[in-house]
Amino acid sequence: MIKKLLLSALVLTSSLIASNEVNVYSSRHYDTDKQLFKMFEKDTGIKVKVIQAKDDALIKRMESEGKNSPADVFITVDAARIQRATDKKLFQSINSEFLTSSVESKLRDVNNQWFALTKRARIIAVRKDSKLANGIKTYEELADPKYKGQIMVRSSSNVYNQSLMAAMIAHHGNDYAINWAKGVVSNMARGPKGSDRDQAKGVAAGIGSTAIMNTYYVGKLASSNESDKEVISKLNILFPKFENGGTHINISAAGVARYAKNKENAIKFIEFLLSTQAQEIFAKGNFEYPVINNAEISPLVKSWGKINDDNVTINDLGKFNKDAVKALDIAGWK
Ligand SMILES: [Fe+2]
Repeated sequence: MIKKLLLSALVLTSSLIASNEVNVYSSRHYDTDKQLFKMFEKDTGIKVKVIQAKDDALIKRMESEGKNSPADVFITVDAARIQRATDKKLFQSINSEFLTSSVESKLRDVNNQWFALTKRARIIAVRKDSKLANGIKTYEELADPKYKGQIMVRSSSNVYNQSLMAAMIAHHGNDYAINWAKGVVSNMARGPKGSDRDQAKGVAAGIGSTAIMNTYYVGKLASSNESDKEVISKLNILFPKFENGGTHINISAAGVARYAKNKENAIKFIEFLLSTQAQEIFAKGNFEYPVINNAEISPLVKSWGKINDDNVTINDLGKFNKDAVKALDIAGWK
């Protein structure tokens, strides 16, 4: 009898321990996130266990772990990968009044399987002394032959460019987008190579006048070492728009894993990441845009002016990813 009681006490304790944690698979690799996870632990007493790896590696891992996956929350970056994870049924729909009312519908899954955590814009950084480049208003005109030899951008294997192309397809259709990409390719200052930051450095060095890059990399360069600060001092940050839309937005997002063992904790964790306090830490520490309306952004990001988000949904960016990859290939964007 005593043995039985002891055993059930043990089972009870171990189930309590199991429910006092949240297992997070994340492809974000920023100090802001570590800080936030610690804050969540302190606030709730729920232990945050993180496995951090590249997006596609985590997707593969969750697929092969199946029902045995310890993942409670999956955090990933870029619409195409979020869509991939959704297609592979790695998330589950959740019911959270707080999340559905905080995150506008175009920044969350139609079935509430994932919610945007942060926004980033794909913009252009142009050399201050280039009159021509400072006149660019739209993404469409990046293909205009008058910008021959001006454009610096990374490879089409990069998912950020694929999502920009997916947005171009969503706005104008496949044929237009292919021609647009051909135009951009013939305007490139050099073959695509390097990271977003390298394009900014190339423009500052005078190789081209216009770097296509994500906003937070500008922030990271501006808060880095002296030579990176020097790079940024030579650039103007411009927000192109689509002719019938706004500035291209991408996101990082979080969802509850399909086989989450700690579902309540997972929801609590995602709700915490969308609190005003957490959103301001993402925004100020990592130069991203908050997803909720009342959170403050970093003064540097604020100094670039107000952003008008494009009207293409994140779901659509994911949906057009395959077409975008094909179209970029046809256009010869290496
Ligand atoms: Fe990035």
